[in-house]
Amino acid sequence: MKNTVVTLQQQKLSRDKITMLTAYDFSTAKLMDDSGINALLVGDSLGMVMLGYEDTLSVTMEDMIHHSKAVARAAKRALVVTDMPFMSYQISVQDALYNAGRLVKEGHAQSVKLEGGEEICPQIKAITQAAIPVMGHLGLTPQSVNAFGGFKVQGRDEEAARRIINSALAVEQAGAFAVVLECVPATLATLISECLTIPTIGIGAGAGCDGQVLVYQDMLGLYGGIAPKFAKQFNNVGEQMKAGFDSYIREIKSGSFPAEEHIFRIDDAIMAKLQR
Ligand code: KIV
Ligand code: NA
Repeated sequence: MKNTVVTLQQQKLSRDKITMLTAYDFSTAKLMDDSGINALLVGDSLGMVMLGYEDTLSVTMEDMIHHSKAVARAAKRALVVTDMPFMSYQISVQDALYNAGRLVKEGHAQSVKLEGGEEICPQIKAITQAAIPVMGHLGLTPQSVNAFGGFKVQGRDEEAARRIINSALAVEQAGAFAVVLECVPATLATLISECLTIPTIGIGAGAGCDGQVLVYQDMLGLYGGIAPKFAKQFNNVGEQMKAGFDSYIREIKSGSFPAEEHIFRIDDAIMAKLQR
């Protein structure tokens, strides 16, 4: 059965941890869906891990739609959440509504995610009222990297911590069905998870959240760049891929690939005629 935003909210009530991974393509999303993952996030992190940008700011609506469609086709059970890219929702409520609609109509997303607190609550409210569920995102919001002065832990001093708590309450009040807490102290994330009735999904926010999300390239050892502290590597798929590529090159050079079992045949009599 297909997961919905209600499934995730019921999981919070029954204390069944929500599992989420980022996904950007059909075949990877299908493997995750077959594993029984609860939700798939078509994150704008695709700008970094799929497209090689330094940050997420250059990601376009077209990029998000393109990858969202592929993931949605693979998600038989998992809830699909698609990120709204930088400047697709900040300018106006009208823009936000229009672009959220595109992610659903063209990208086949079931819900959308927006970064920010009080300043984007009018957008969250309008999108939710248009029957598109919204996931919030607080703490280290990567689209604000230039304002933060780098990718840094958020909410460490009292004022910043209070700001995140108030933002979480505001986002819930505006109608969000869940909220991502990224790179915030674990005890603060636990407190917020207890205060909210909607589920919290943590990334670098400790085990007190109602669920967890990771960028799959980080957890599989596929991303060449520096892996963040919170990104546990569950498998080194990157090393396995590299070994496969090395063998491929070696066997072509040595002539052992392609072998007998990899080739197609033509009747010898026909070949004899061709060679005359
Ligand atoms: O884009 C992304 O991958 C995200 C997660 C890190 C939450 O927003
Ligand atoms: Na994102």
